[in-house]
Amino acid sequence: MSTDPVLFDTFASADGCWHNLRLAPGLFEAGAPVEQDAPACIAVRQGRIAWVGPHASLPADCAGLPHHDGRGMLATPGLVDCHTHLVYGGQRAGEFAMRLAGASYEEVARAGGGIVSSVRATREATEDELFAQALPRLSQLLDEGVCAIEIKSGYGLALEHERKQLRVARRLGRALGVTVRTTFLGAHALPPEYAGRSQDYIDRVCSEMLPALAAEGLVDAVDVFCERIAFSLAETEQVFQAAHRLGLPVKLHAEQLSNMEGAALAARYGALSCDHIEHLSQQGIEAMRGAGSVAVLLPGAFYALRDTHLPPIAALRAAGVPMAVSTDHNPGTSPCLSLLLMASMACTLFRLTVPEALAGITRHGAQALGLQHEHGLIAAGRPAHFVLWPVGQAAELAYWFGSRPDCTIVRQGRIARMSRHGRD
Ligand code: NIG
Ligand code: FE
Repeated sequence: MSTDPVLFDTFASADGCWHNLRLAPGLFEAGAPVEQDAPACIAVRQGRIAWVGPHASLPADCAGLPHHDGRGMLATPGLVDCHTHLVYGGQRAGEFAMRLAGASYEEVARAGGGIVSSVRATREATEDELFAQALPRLSQLLDEGVCAIEIKSGYGLALEHERKQLRVARRLGRALGVTVRTTFLGAHALPPEYAGRSQDYIDRVCSEMLPALAAEGLVDAVDVFCERIAFSLAETEQVFQAAHRLGLPVKLHAEQLSNMEGAALAARYGALSCDHIEHLSQQGIEAMRGAGSVAVLLPGAFYALRDTHLPPIAALRAAGVPMAVSTDHNPGTSPCLSLLLMASMACTLFRLTVPEALAGITRHGAQALGLQHEHGLIAAGRPAHFVLWPVGQAAELAYWFGSRPDCTIVRQGRIARMSRHGRD
């Protein structure tokens, strides 16, 4: 196997005190009360946040740290992209054209396109080729401030190919210095060699593929695509039981195209999250609330499929179910490489408020991955992951779209990107 480029280790340490910042409301826990827009500081020691709060209250032991000038920028936690299928072979622009000509996602899938066409390209690619294809995609997401990302398998659908995808996900995390949570999605689609034998495939997923990959330390969570064109409720439950036997948390592609009551099932297994959920029922919402599952909203897939059935945002809000927002990056329904664009679309298409959308790409995204104690909030004691944005107010992060803000990024205690804002 080739040696991965050491891209991250060369970045400078972020240790020191970052002065002259403003803190985005609701996304930090300060060491002293903060008045909105009062000059604030973030102190970093040995790669961890030592203190955050107003400049006026900076503890004496932080005042002497090396000085970084935040140039008046707005600080948020590092972003969290909690649902992606980032590692795959090829692309599906041809299918995009078919859909524009009138074919539905389900029709494309039934015609042998869709997920299965990415499976062909993924199986044909070597591990190194998959790594080389995914690296620039991940770099684009990171350049916009993503500090933690979930990467699913599900385009291999056979042990060796699922393994290849998950190994690439781990390698990407090491090479780029980003927190990667891997999710096994062996039950994403029925592989062509199992046509008509769905139960046989699920048996293999549960008795062979998942245990083997878990034993290799490649699986942080387990997901299923529960849908008419994918797997039934009973098959989904079988995979959840296998995950539970291995002590792995579950999540679900639930109620995207129809209401299968998958969310209620996932909640019974204590799911970290239920994702897509355009057709989620009130019963599903209640079950998610009871289980503490996060609702992951994926406006990129909604947009690309020209869906019109909105997820039940008002009911989720009323029930107090935390809502996350993610790219769902995948080659079929969401070839999107901007989490900020998803925040903007969550507001415009789904009517989230800006604070909800920003919590969705930080705090709630972290919760959907079980990473709420390390990511998604600027607070003392946590690893230093934060972003400084050259904007006047937090709403601008969801207001501008199609722009690439010139931000400073501190990831894993290192300066991964330095803004030119205020330096010229
Ligand atoms: O999250 N819904 C199922 N899976 C992906 C789509 C995968 C594909 O079309 O390749 C999703 O949207
Ligand atoms: Fe997905």
